[in-house]
Amino acid sequence: MRTQVGIIGAGPAGLVLAHLLHRDGIDSIVIENRSRDYVIGRVRAGVLEQSTVDLLVETGLGERLRREGMRHSGIHLCFGRRRRRIDFDDLTPGRAITIYGQNELVTDLIGARIATGGPLHFNVADVRIANFDSAPHIALRIDENQHEIACDFIAGCDGSHGISRASIPAGAVRTFEREYPFAWLGILAEAAPSCDEIVYALHARGFALFSMRSPSITRLYLQCSPDEDLERWPDHRIWDELIARLESSDGWRPRRGKILQKGITGMRSLVAEPMRCARLFLAGDAAHIVPPTGAKGLNLAVADVRILARALAAYYREGREDLLERYSEDCLRRVWNVQRFSWWMTSMLHRAPDATEFDYRRQLAELDYFTSSRAAMTSLAENYTGWKSAVNEPEST
Ligand code: APR
Ligand code: PHB
Repeated sequence: MRTQVGIIGAGPAGLVLAHLLHRDGIDSIVIENRSRDYVIGRVRAGVLEQSTVDLLVETGLGERLRREGMRHSGIHLCFGRRRRRIDFDDLTPGRAITIYGQNELVTDLIGARIATGGPLHFNVADVRIANFDSAPHIALRIDENQHEIACDFIAGCDGSHGISRASIPAGAVRTFEREYPFAWLGILAEAAPSCDEIVYALHARGFALFSMRSPSITRLYLQCSPDEDLERWPDHRIWDELIARLESSDGWRPRRGKILQKGITGMRSLVAEPMRCARLFLAGDAAHIVPPTGAKGLNLAVADVRILARALAAYYREGREDLLERYSEDCLRRVWNVQRFSWWMTSMLHRAPDATEFDYRRQLAELDYFTSSRAAMTSLAENYTGWKSAVNEPEST
């Protein structure tokens, strides 16, 4: 097999990249080691920032997103049982967030890929990449048959446990990491949302989050320890703890319902630098991980591949290599800002095991400030809905 861009991974990064390249007349082959049902079925992120929504709509992927996505023009922060709202319409006019499950987005992207007839192989095995400093190729197995894909470039979109970053020779890439001493216990529940926006809470017993997926499904999380045993969390205990942490003095509390799914999400920050090694480009979780508190992982993946698609288009259309050369630098500026924001939201809203009462009171003061100073609220709103720096950002696709 031969193609212009070999894309490893059919998550949001790989599939959006394939979609943007197709619109620019660039061929790609997407390979994914899991099944299509698995990729669509896994419950993951759900918050799209404004520029992600704009990109999807501009490139013809907005139909179901516009119909079923839930546009939110604010979020709530709850602390000391006070619930305060950050109003995006007022603070960042024209910018909001849209709740649309990552699995819904992936479903739309797979549909769009299939409609174009572009190659997309699920259930591939033994993926290996080589020669990415000269003539890249990908070796893989499909249905017991061995294949090779020769390509001009490889896009490593294979998430945090993929083979792309791990294939880069030692010394050619550096990683910067931070582990957090807590995790999230997340549930999906059959319950109509009792608030029409997301609620982030800091309680003396730790963090909790109320979110949703549809008018009848809620998604909630509570801070737990990284080695938490789910067996110790029967449904009634989860609800009691969520309600204790989220309930506010205005009478609001999440509505109980049947728990459809539960799981533990680890919290980690990681950045690989540079995000490129010769003709191999890393994008999305393959290049960086953010703790989920800022709701940024999916948006960062989409932002990377938008920059990569633009650089590849300039290469094929005009023979320009400058944007490819700049890819890592252009992405990393946003990546580090998002790391900063996600780390900040995480630190402000969680109780670390070794934290003191002084730390807790400082956190409450920080929440008070960030929900009452207009300057502070604007900073939060512009980062949450997606900060667009004036430098090095593609204006359109
Ligand atoms: N070969 C082929 N595919 C692979 C391989 C491999 N060796 N290893 C991993 N993959 C696949 C995974 O099965 C997954 O479907 O690569 C895909 C990577 O997708 P994601 O993990 O969703 O990563 P990305 O596309 O970068 O999207 C980032 O995902 O983790 C969330 O919160 C994060 O929303 C963010 C988003
Ligand atoms: C979610 O809806 O799954 C969600 C919302 C906000 C976050 C993280 C996850 O910060």
